[in-house]
Amino acid sequence: MPAYSASVPGKVILFGEHAVVYGQPALAVPVADVAAKVRIQPAPDLPRGEVLLTAPAVGLRDASLNSLPENDPLAKAVRLTLEAVGAHMPAARIWISSTIPVAAGLGSGAAVSVALVRAVSGFLGKPLPPQTVSAIAYEVEKIHHGTPSGIDNTVITYAKPVYFVRGEPIRTFSIAKPFTLVIADSGVPAPTAEAVADVRRAYQGEPKRYGALFAAIGRVVESARAAIVGGAVEDLGALMDENQRLLEQIGVSCPTLERLIAAAKQAGALGAKLSGGGRGGNMIALVPPQNPALAGAIAEALRAAGAVRTIVSLVK
Ligand code: PMV
Repeated sequence: MPAYSASVPGKVILFGEHAVVYGQPALAVPVADVAAKVRIQPAPDLPRGEVLLTAPAVGLRDASLNSLPENDPLAKAVRLTLEAVGAHMPAARIWISSTIPVAAGLGSGAAVSVALVRAVSGFLGKPLPPQTVSAIAYEVEKIHHGTPSGIDNTVITYAKPVYFVRGEPIRTFSIAKPFTLVIADSGVPAPTAEAVADVRRAYQGEPKRYGALFAAIGRVVESARAAIVGGAVEDLGALMDENQRLLEQIGVSCPTLERLIAAAKQAGALGAKLSGGGRGGNMIALVPPQNPALAGAIAEALRAAGAVRTIVSLVK
């Protein structure tokens, strides 16, 4: 059995986070500038069935897969994959590495799950279809936060721009005119589970008000999709600003993100918003299509305003 590797991209949510949990559409795109990688090698030197896992980001070095708790995300991804392919794992070593910042809204958890499912099933000579890969990653996402919409595992599995509606079959969309985003990490850990739970509590307290905010976000998403598919990139800036205002009203923004958003706009971004769970994590800024060279200045302004890392990413 030869060694096998899988590499999958990160993602950003362009529009629609949080409202997507309540059935509104959202738009997300893969980010190929970062990736999660899994490599599996047979290990004839180990006892039968022994699988050792190395994942430096979570402090695992040659950890026996069987010693990990049942609800460990990595162990769960491997177990569900083995169930899906109907096979046992021969003795092997698994290495997991990722350049996707953790807890930053770039889909690091889902990307590691997808890479692991692909690598394990591929290693066993039984690659799984994307629906199954995505479904397993979704089950693992539930460990991180109880009610994920499924957008992360979907966009990362298909590695294509996705118009996502919870519970509906996947719909990809095409980008008529590529555009450039600057993605900036606020350095504040983004507790998606907490933000999602707080929004749920707030929604339960004021269902009418929150329902209206979610519906307004849904309308922004529809306009954004029309703009992207129609090549009207310059319209996206105002739509990002509008989505950000609605996210602030929902209570998932924070002063650090807002400082970065203001800095990006001052440096010439057409629009900017938080991306993902909020309260920290990443924000995205739109580089004017007629002046792509501004990307560098916007990234610099973001770092000067406190961003710990910036990625200039072409969305295509
Ligand atoms: O923080 P992220 O990138 O995993 O995104 C969370 C997106 C939410 O809409 C807030 C939650 C979800 O499950 O869709």
